[in-house]
Amino acid sequence: MQYQTLLTSIEDSICTITINRPEKLNALNKTVIEELSDAIVEVYNSMDIKSAIITGAGEKAFVAGADISEFLQLDANTGEALARKGQETVFDKIANSPKPIIAAVNGFALGGGCELALACHFIIASKNAKFGQPEVNLGLIPGYGGTQRLTQLVGKNRAMQLIMTGEIISASDAQQYGIVNKIVEQNELLNEVKKVLAVIHTKAPLAITKVIECINNFDYTQEGYDFEMKKFGECFLTEDVKEGAAAFLEKRKAEFKGK
Ligand code: COA
Repeated sequence: MQYQTLLTSIEDSICTITINRPEKLNALNKTVIEELSDAIVEVYNSMDIKSAIITGAGEKAFVAGADISEFLQLDANTGEALARKGQETVFDKIANSPKPIIAAVNGFALGGGCELALACHFIIASKNAKFGQPEVNLGLIPGYGGTQRLTQLVGKNRAMQLIMTGEIISASDAQQYGIVNKIVEQNELLNEVKKVLAVIHTKAPLAITKVIECINNFDYTQEGYDFEMKKFGECFLTEDVKEGAAAFLEKRKAEFKGK
């Protein structure tokens, strides 16, 4: 598919989606949101794609936020609608994708950019990456899930401080906070993410989907455990569980079919 604001490529069943507005630090305007939504639908539906990477073009930014130039004409209704549309068509869709979607954060991940990375299943970053929710500088709050996803990840007190101060933190602070799983040199970033995805591709795809569903349904109450038990049971409806167990007992590598 051809896009105005995205570059996409598929290699080894990994779809790399690059937000391509480097002159505006890859800020998320209306077109980027619409095209990202289409690209994620493609990830969901294409038999050629097993997983995806989201990254930004250039060496400076992953995404420096929602496009601030589109904010001046908003009112309460259109502002809420903008957040809802982005949340439903992009951020939730990424978080709930049945296939792994990993953020390769190659520079500034601010505001909507930080939220985009947080919506992905996990984050690997380059040394120069920077994270922050600076919306309060603009009289705003995060609108693409930042108050929720950041709080889940770093806990209430750190989320309060980060969002109230708008502080921009380094990749290593973000790693210490549990936002980033691994930091690598910028020129190694995509290779590193691809290496992790290559490992995931050797596992049973339907089990991976259930892992995503269970972790997204994390809940301190019994409900989280009940959901996991139900999904565990459902694994036994798949051909892959029979292949996985047989392969172990026959001391060979499993060949999963995603069935
Ligand atoms: N929306 C729209 N345009 C943006 C943008 C955003 N979120 N972030 C950067 N840009 C644009 C700048 O306006 C500038 O465009 P111009 O060259 O036409 O003037 C271009 O991208 C380069 O940015 P610039 O600010 O000149 O780069 P810098 O290196 O001096 O600063 C940042 C980098 C990230 C610190 C700074 O761009 C910034 O603070 N951006 C906004 C971050 C933010 O508040 N995000 C949350 C939005 S809700």
